[in-house]
Amino acid sequence: MIFYFTGTGNSLYAAKQLDQELISIPQAMHREEQTYRAVIIGIVCPVYGHEMPAMVKEFLRKAKFQTNYLYLILTYGNIHGGAAELAQKELRSAGKNADYINTLKMADNYLPAFDMEEQTASEPGKKIEEHLGRIREDIEAGKKWIQPASKADRAWHQKHLERQAAVPSDQWRHIYDVTEECIGCGICTRVCPAGCIHLEKGRAVHTMENCQMCMACIHHCPQNAIRLTIPEKNPAARFHNSHIRLTEIVKANDQSGWEAHR
Ligand SMILES: Cc1cc2nc3c(=O)[nH]c(=O)nc-3n(C[C@H](O)[C@H](O)[C@H](O)COP(=O)(O)O)c2cc1C
Ligand code: SF4
Ligand code: SF4
Repeated sequence: MIFYFTGTGNSLYAAKQLDQELISIPQAMHREEQTYRAVIIGIVCPVYGHEMPAMVKEFLRKAKFQTNYLYLILTYGNIHGGAAELAQKELRSAGKNADYINTLKMADNYLPAFDMEEQTASEPGKKIEEHLGRIREDIEAGKKWIQPASKADRAWHQKHLERQAAVPSDQWRHIYDVTEECIGCGICTRVCPAGCIHLEKGRAVHTMENCQMCMACIHHCPQNAIRLTIPEKNPAARFHNSHIRLTEIVKANDQSGWEAHR
């Protein structure tokens, strides 16, 4: 049994290589019963600012796992910043303990810092399949290991927290802009794991409340009609994991079926 959260498909791709029983966290969040039983339970998600997405943290606080082996795989693109150590800390504060936490370097979908053309081209050099193979062997062997954070990792994270604190909170409230290019196709509303986008008069409207910053809406828009209001490295380039279909992202994230329950 493996739980996953994904914006652009990297984490879903990794999850699919590790288990066959896949459960989307944005869908599982709606379940009343949150006790899960399996011999092995895994969680796969991206790191955002070296940490797990807010929704994954919330899920980990809600869920009860009855298992012999709990593992986490954190996908990232450039610097994990001691993500495994931070995730174990988070798990412990939720009254849980992972047996194994590892990171997996994939394409970096963070638009302010990276050009998606370069990121796509960088994938072969990251030896994703080899790393996934080693992770699979570790899990099959029941290895107990939490990837240690180095001094440099901790320093990166500290620097990141200081930079975040210096950003005016206002900036995040207006971070997404829907341009005239929008044709009202609704794809962004269906790939959003948090139900933050709706259509008004045939055009997408974004609300920041509960936004996970996963950037799925931006990357999957066929018109490239959603932009960041802060500079992007290459506003013309977008990314999605080439092994994952748009329908899989929609199945994982679509919140429209839950509207009646809100
Ligand atoms: C808001 C945001 C923050 C991110 N922060 C980091 C980070 O701190 N370090 C890193 O290496 N990659 C970071 N990334 C890149 C993602 O972790 C990486 O591309 C991940 O594999 C995406 O997974 P997904 O395709 O399943 O959504 C960030 C991406 C986003 C959107
Ligand atoms: S995916 Fe793009 S074009 Fe489609 S509704 Fe959203 S913003 Fe508009
Ligand atoms: S609005 Fe966009 S960035 Fe925010 S959670 Fe939804 S898809 Fe992700």
